[in-house]
Amino acid sequence: MKEKRMKPFVKWAGGKGQLIDTIKKQYPKGLGVTIRKYAEPFVGGGAVLFDILNKYELDEIYISDTNAELINTYKVLRNNADDLISMLLQYKDEYIHLSDDFRKEYYYKKRKRFNDLKCQEVLDTEMASLLIFLNRTCFNGLYRVNSKGEYNVPIGSYKTPLICDEDNLRHVSEALSNVTIVCGDYRKSNDFVDRNTFVYFDPPYRPLNATSSFTAYTENAFDDEAQAELANYIQQVSDRGAYVIASNSDPKNTDPDDDFLDELYSKMKIMRISASRMINSNASSRGKISELLICSY
Ligand SMILES: C[S@@+](CC[C@H](N)C(=O)[O-])C[C@H]1O[C@@H](n2cnc3c(N)ncnc32)[C@H](O)[C@@H]1O
Repeated sequence: MKEKRMKPFVKWAGGKGQLIDTIKKQYPKGLGVTIRKYAEPFVGGGAVLFDILNKYELDEIYISDTNAELINTYKVLRNNADDLISMLLQYKDEYIHLSDDFRKEYYYKKRKRFNDLKCQEVLDTEMASLLIFLNRTCFNGLYRVNSKGEYNVPIGSYKTPLICDEDNLRHVSEALSNVTIVCGDYRKSNDFVDRNTFVYFDPPYRPLNATSSFTAYTENAFDDEAQAELANYIQQVSDRGAYVIASNSDPKNTDPDDDFLDELYSKMKIMRISASRMINSNASSRGKISELLICSY
């Protein structure tokens, strides 16, 4: 077993860093022996991906996400870590000694540049560096876009943000070297997943109520119909013999009679695990609530 060394290189909404200890207890036994492949179709910041990469030697790994800028960052980090790191070191040197007012000016200039570059299909090192820079210096490490698809998170107030965690970036780059990285819908994983594959699905959560809705990671919402289609897909790959774990919110936090997800996943094992996150947009109600961990085996 390799020594643990990598962690997510971006902070991501819905990141599973705090739940990783609970999730890893559910990894299929024998992972690394009988399981030769891993897929994470909603990769986001990849908390589970990096835990798996730290521990197991697998033959094939597949990740995807619909967020094109995030996927560009994974690809640039895999293919061209040196240029990415030197750009980030340059941003760090320029930013870190500035006064608050000049930091503000610098941040909003970089945000504008990021939005100007967005939507280009080509692999773009500058856009990848900007995504990491903005993620490290913005308010709360959020990735949020407006209705025009423009990244619109304001500056955060970190005194010494870690803009370039060079060691981690280099370890991640090396570990990604034989990972298949796909920009697009989770269903594109269909050809990859077979009976020797462990798959972790971490979709945008079903909102607990109207105000807690935070499903706009990209321009597309993930509504109840999308949740039902995903449940169908998960059933299909698990019928094929794949080992599947999925996360979602627990509707019963706010409505004990809401069986929507229990019904969609009635053929699977549903665990209710304790998590610490906001029930609604009011930070004062932050506390322990339960989340679903759905397991096919
Ligand atoms: C809850 S987050 C995943 C968080 C991740 N597990 C982590 O630790 O950071 C859900 C991710 O799904 C992506 N997404 C939304 N719709 C998708 C779709 N149809 N197919 C694939 N990814 C999608 C979003 O861009 C977002 O990054």
